[in-house]
Amino acid sequence: EGNILTDTLNRHHSYLRISLTERCNLRCQYCMPEEGVQLTPQNRLLSSAEIVTLAGIFAEEGVSKIRLTGGEPLVRSDLADIIRSLKAVPGVKTVGITTNALTLSRKLDSLMAAGLDALNISLDTLIKPKFEHITRRRGHDRVLQAIQDASSSGHFDRVKVNCVVMRGMNEEEVPNFVELTREWPIDIRFIEYMPFDGNKWLLKKFVPYQEMLNSLRKSYPELVRISDQPNDTSKAWQVPGFLGQIGFITSMSKNFCGSCNRLRLTADGNLKVCLFGNTELNLRDALRDSALNKDDIKELIGEAVMKKKPRHAGMLKIKESANRPMILIGG
Ligand code: GTP
Ligand code: 5AD
Ligand code: SF4
Repeated sequence: EGNILTDTLNRHHSYLRISLTERCNLRCQYCMPEEGVQLTPQNRLLSSAEIVTLAGIFAEEGVSKIRLTGGEPLVRSDLADIIRSLKAVPGVKTVGITTNALTLSRKLDSLMAAGLDALNISLDTLIKPKFEHITRRRGHDRVLQAIQDASSSGHFDRVKVNCVVMRGMNEEEVPNFVELTREWPIDIRFIEYMPFDGNKWLLKKFVPYQEMLNSLRKSYPELVRISDQPNDTSKAWQVPGFLGQIGFITSMSKNFCGSCNRLRLTADGNLKVCLFGNTELNLRDALRDSALNKDDIKELIGEAVMKKKPRHAGMLKIKESANRPMILIGG
């Protein structure tokens, strides 16, 4: 029995990442060009009602996990309401957000009350001036405070901290991030730097998994590989006795496309079946077209999923091909 969210390689897509906004209060170099990006007019962005409707359609077909991204999801004043509505969608079990956490501390209680299950926070450096260099904005103290607040709330299984590693920028801080896991029950994930439109990706700035691991082993020879959760993006490791753990998101050097379970919905309502590549299905217009019913929309989604490639093309080809800037995808 075929399911529309199962592709030709028998990958079951049970995880939907929804971008809630194209706006962000940071300007991270690896995510967007300095001058910013052209924003989509309001009437061509999904409304929160449309987001919930689409989530319902995907949930009927097997999506049980939703992650809200951006831009920066916390810039949406109705974020807690969206989380509450998504949690009420039959079939949806968990709702997470990926955030820069700049304004998280003061919103944490309302997000937890709305039913937020999972929290991933981006932080690429432990050095304040470097934070301002990478993000082109201030706010390092607030992000550190938010990680502390979220982690000590005890509400989340384990707060994940995302660190994009770039040569000449922060690769020397990797052991310092690992050191944080001694006393903090957090999961630090080192992410291989990926090429997107406008992010000036260069091979020489790319630090592969194996290199990060080799250099870390000099500081932490006792590092051990631990088991991953199903469909995890990261390969998990731990220093025995430390409360937290670390992970490596090896999208470029060792892709995990074979077990990919993700689909993406952009803020302007396009379905992306892969993070890379620019084939998109415009679900916003389909939803707004009174000639199409839910089954028609499901058929379109099924066709898009069937077109999903077995794996991405590799970083050198990705660099040369058209995609969106990361800020318009959401990671
Ligand atoms: P969980 O939902 O907690 O498993 O986290 P996640 O790793 O899926 O999501 P997160 O938003 O924290 O993203 C961390 C990094 O993984 C970012 O750099 C994402 O771009 C990358 N990532 C997330 N999903 C995918 C994916 O499907 N493919 C690839 N190649 N990278 C991904
Ligand atoms: N390469 C790797 N990771 C990236 N992210 C944003 N841009 C890139 C990139 N070029 C990460 C962010 C965030 C997550 C959604 O994606 O740091 O944690
Ligand atoms: Fe899935 Fe595409 Fe990411 Fe591979 S690159 S894991 S196919 S989203």
